[in-house]
Amino acid sequence: MATPDYVLGSDDAEIRRLQTQAAIIAEPTELLFRRGGLTPGMRVLDLGSGPGDVSFQVSQIVGPDGSVLGLERDPAQLAVAEQRRDAMGLTNVAFRSGDARTFVADEPFDAVVCRLLLMHLPDAVDVLAHHRRNLRPGGVFVAVDYDMSGVRARPEVELFTRVGSWLEAGFRHAQADPSVGMLFPVLFRDAGFADVGTLGLQLYWPPDNSEAAGYVVGVVRALHDAILASGVVTADELDLDTLEQRLGEQIRAAGAVWTVPTIVGGWGRRA
Ligand SMILES: C[S@@+](CC[C@H](N)C(=O)[O-])C[C@H]1O[C@@H](n2cnc3c(N)ncnc32)[C@H](O)[C@@H]1O
Repeated sequence: MATPDYVLGSDDAEIRRLQTQAAIIAEPTELLFRRGGLTPGMRVLDLGSGPGDVSFQVSQIVGPDGSVLGLERDPAQLAVAEQRRDAMGLTNVAFRSGDARTFVADEPFDAVVCRLLLMHLPDAVDVLAHHRRNLRPGGVFVAVDYDMSGVRARPEVELFTRVGSWLEAGFRHAQADPSVGMLFPVLFRDAGFADVGTLGLQLYWPPDNSEAAGYVVGVVRALHDAILASGVVTADELDLDTLEQRLGEQIRAAGAVWTVPTIVGGWGRRA
């Protein structure tokens, strides 16, 4: 299957947004990677490594006796990841350019991971199956991705509900699946993995969370063209310049607790 163009781009604002997002979802990511089977000493391949946050987190889990190779297709993301690694003085993390769908390792890894990549790959089952051959027998694949169907506010805030529907429409227009996490049990099974497991973790924000509106609107900004192309909303109605302020105000006025997408971990072992 042909892969559609990656929709989120890689300008400076988007690379910064990924780092902000990475900090917000660091805790569930770590819990899910450990639950999926990452342990000290492992050699790990990180697919779609972006600005490097997952590789850096995994390097802490595997420790000095382990190592991480981040694979990324976009040169701008790779350059930022390398600069950050050097600034942190990490010696067990390397990055290289490559396509996550077709990369073949010289030597099998103990684990392959990816976060927020499978949602962009309509052929996710084929990609998972492909990487079985990059794992040693007994090695694990651990994926972390979103299930957007859990996004809501209580009490409901109409603007937030609409923003959720715009994001859903934008991702779908770009042939991305923002709820791919919900499919993990069948994707891993169909890709031929053993001991398949799936667990979703949910963050809940208080009404006055200072970073929440910026986080949500950051995704809208990255997806803006796809959202408009989907026809779900006009540029005037969306009004990107004022959206963050309006959203934050309406959530606070309603005293609403709101959620980000459920962070889902899926894993399986190469038999
Ligand atoms: C949403 S970002 C996630 C980055 C990082 N994994 C994280 O969770 O912070 C997805 C990344 O995957 C990269 N990507 C998309 N398709 C890819 C492919 N076929 N091969 C390698 N990288 C890819 C993008 O360039 C981008 O850096």
